Amino acid sequence: MNSSRYAAIVGWGMALPRRLVTNDELAERIETSDEWIRSRTGILQRYVAGPDEPTSVLAAAAGRAALAQAGLGPEAVDTLIVATCTPDRPFPATACAVQQQLGMGRTAAFDLVAACSGFVYGLSVGTSLVRSGVSHVLLLIAADVFTHLIDWDDRNTCVLFGDGAGAVVLRADEAPFGALASNMGAWGGGETLMAVDAGGTLLPITPELLTQRRQYVYMNGREIFKHAVRGMCESAEQAVVEAGVSFDAIRLVVPHQANVRIIEAVAKRLGLPMERVFVNLDRYGNTSAASVPIALYEAAEQGRIVAGDLVLLTAFGGGLTWGSSVVRWGHGHG
Ligand code: UT7
Repeated sequence: MNSSRYAAIVGWGMALPRRLVTNDELAERIETSDEWIRSRTGILQRYVAGPDEPTSVLAAAAGRAALAQAGLGPEAVDTLIVATCTPDRPFPATACAVQQQLGMGRTAAFDLVAACSGFVYGLSVGTSLVRSGVSHVLLLIAADVFTHLIDWDDRNTCVLFGDGAGAVVLRADEAPFGALASNMGAWGGGETLMAVDAGGTLLPITPELLTQRRQYVYMNGREIFKHAVRGMCESAEQAVVEAGVSFDAIRLVVPHQANVRIIEAVAKRLGLPMERVFVNLDRYGNTSAASVPIALYEAAEQGRIVAGDLVLLTAFGGGLTWGSSVVRWGHGHG
């Protein structure tokens, strides 16, 4: 890695589908209540994509907003990464559709699949590409229409998720901004703690599988909860040590927004007061890969982080996967 070349975040954007779904609306359909969902998860509402809002459309909207914020046109981007586990099509990459929608010419474009850890994985990979000199301006978008995988009759999962997209523009910088230390981890032994069984090469779709509703996500919530707290805490601690800073120096933690109880448990174990932890899942639910960049976007727009601040991003997701990054917000000269 070139120690005098960094990957500053110079633009950020987000996008949501139009349709808002409240807890009460879900309670009209299935055996649940606003009280249960609020108290067990912290979620009050979520946005759900319609047929004209596939992943690429939300991703392109977030990417467009991030580029506008950076004051850059699509032609400035040389690499596009779309982190998603809900692609437009099984093949080819959704990043190619996004590249086309944004009018980016012949930019390198690929998808990255790490479920809810997609954005922190993408930030690690994208930062490495910029710091090694392969890329100069990289657009990282994390977008998921996770509700596409939801069985709306399954109360164990349907109350938790929402759709959305978030994006950042990374630009080569001589000053130490952007991700200063990042790590990624995975444990394939937990593959079926949360998964969709049908529709891949293991179990191609058949009418029988559809009848069994195997095209939808299932989840062992309690087990995931435990792994989530452990994965995020350990990787967050590692990132802070590798960045050569202390938790006291971190202005704000922006964690994956899955369940406020998971976030509170992580904060407690890291010894951080909740005032220094960003939470917005009450309005969006778990937006999978999009959750960290949407939270980062809102933290920046609300002035919770300003240039020079250190921000800790941490996430976990299906796979199981996890990762963290210590980011210095702001930028020098590209
Ligand atoms: O990005 C990764 C995505 N996955 C996650 O983040 C999942 C992490 N896990 C969690 O967030 C929590 O485990 C849940 C929110 C999924 C569940 O909370 P919990 O406190 O672990 O509840 P539980 O699984 O222990 O279930 C308690 C009860 C059960 O009833 P019984 O067996 O005690 O009679 C469930 O059937 O709550 C019931 N239940 C519900 N009740 C009303 C489960 N879902 C619902 C629901 N409404 N939507």
